[in-house]
This record gives sequence, structure tokens and C-alpha cells, in this order.
Amino acid sequence: MKIFFALILLNIVFVTSCYYDKEEQLYPNSVETNCNIPLTYTNGIKDIIESNCVSCHKPGGNTPDLSTYTLVKENTTKITLRAITQKDMPGPSGMSACNITKLDNWIKAGTPQ
Ligand code: HEC
Repeated sequence: MKIFFALILLNIVFVTSCYYDKEEQLYPNSVETNCNIPLTYTNGIKDIIESNCVSCHKPGGNTPDLSTYTLVKENTTKITLRAITQKDMPGPSGMSACNITKLDNWIKAGTPQ
């Protein structure tokens, strides 16, 4: 009987040890290796702006509203200054280097929607 349980346990260990996840598939935005892929607003940039900026830059606030494509596009010069050149948005150290690269490439590509 003990052997039987030992075998079952061993089996579980083997089966679970074969299980693996690819980080870039599970968390496409957390991996810093794919910073130079071309992005559009709906595919990538919207997520970056929403998770980094819209908590403050929302409709009806004192700061420029960055909640839509049109508003982001209208503010690209200011966004470049603050988030890419000065790197003081959001907060003193700005965004991650990868997000800065993505935003920079997107603006240089002419802010594709
Ligand atoms: C914690 C709140 C907060 C977050 C998050 C935040 N900002 Fe700001 N932002 C402010 C405040 C407050 C101001 C106005 C004061 C100033 O200019 O420093 C401002 C100003 C700006 C300005 C200048 C506006 C002007 O009229 O000159 C830009 C551009 C800007 N933010 C872009 C961004 C971007 C892009 C992000 C995301 C990467 C971001 N901000 C995230 C609070 C925030």
C-alpha cells in the first residue's frame, strides 16, 4: 500500500514538473524584451496610457484628459516632453524604459490608431 501511494506521489511530481508557462504569453506587458515592436493606439498604447496616466489625466480633471485616442494625439507634443524627454510623468522617475520606448516609437510612427 505504501508503495502504491509513493507511486501516485511520484506520478504527481512528474506530471506537474512538465508544466511550464511562457511569461511573455501570460503577461505580454510585463516582459521588457519586446519594446521595439510596432504598436497602434488600440493595440498597446491605450493600455500603457490607461495604466500609467488616466488615473490623473481623466475627463473633468485639472490635468489634460488623456482618455481617448483623439485627446492623446492632440497632446503628443506635451506628452513627448513630459513622458519621454523629461521622464517626470507619472511621478519623478517616469514610466518603465520599455514603455517609454514604445510610446516614443508610436509617436515617431505618426500615432497610428
Ligand atoms: C499621479 C497623477 C498623475 C499621473 C499618474 C500622470 N500625471 Fe501627468 N500630470 C499630473 C499633474 C498634477 C500635472 C500638472 C502639473 C505638472 O505639469 O507637473 C500633469 C501634467 C502633465 C502634462 C503637462 C500638461 C500641460 O498642460 O503642459 C503632461 C503632458 C502629462 N502630465 C502627461 C502624462 C502622461 C503621459 C502620463 C502617463 C505616462 C501622466 N501624465 C501621468 C499628474 C499625473
